[in-house]
Amino acid sequence: MKILVLNGSPHLNGATSDMVDAFSKGAQESGHEVNVINVAHKNIRGCMACEYCREKEKGVCVQKDDMQDIYPEILGSDMVVFASPIYYFTLSAQLQAAIHRTYSIDIPANVKKVALIMSSGSPFVYGPAIAQYYHSIVEYWGVENAGIFTANGDKNKSEEKRDELYRFGRSL
Ligand SMILES: Cc1cc2nc3c(=O)[nH]c(=O)nc-3n(C[C@H](O)[C@H](O)[C@H](O)COP(=O)(O)O)c2cc1C
Repeated sequence: MKILVLNGSPHLNGATSDMVDAFSKGAQESGHEVNVINVAHKNIRGCMACEYCREKEKGVCVQKDDMQDIYPEILGSDMVVFASPIYYFTLSAQLQAAIHRTYSIDIPANVKKVALIMSSGSPFVYGPAIAQYYHSIVEYWGVENAGIFTANGDKNKSEEKRDELYRFGRSL
């Protein structure tokens, strides 16, 4: 499978990235191709709701920023993994911006599976992010939820979480 990870953490060596790395290692060892894009380090503006992609040129976003390189990656992947730190009980603004900008390509027909990886300071803070993931991605795209993984407090960057994510990647 071609697996795309959209990582919304600005910390390239942070807790979210730690889980992403372990997942990627496991998935690669199982023979999958993994491409991690750190969207927090890309120039991705919010959707302007201009409707150009729906009314003028179907599927084409007028905003010529780094999303233009990410669209083909989403459209060419079999699985998309969303990874983010929890900011104010939900996904980071950087990952939100990338998700909102998929408005132009709408439902990527090739994607069959998705997963969600989140890191936070506290436990019991994932409700809004999980609700969004289910409604906007799993149900809207009509894809299989392959798993939801979380780490908080001293479980961040722990051997236990690394192993959990590695095994998930390996199982695919
Ligand atoms: C702007 C901001 C908002 C945050 N909001 C929450 C929150 O609502 N709940 C929580 O448990 N942690 C919150 N945190 C803590 C981060 O989720 C936590 O430090 C996480 O492990 C960071 O992951 P990273 O190392 O991948 O960046 C917040 C951190 C920042 C910077």
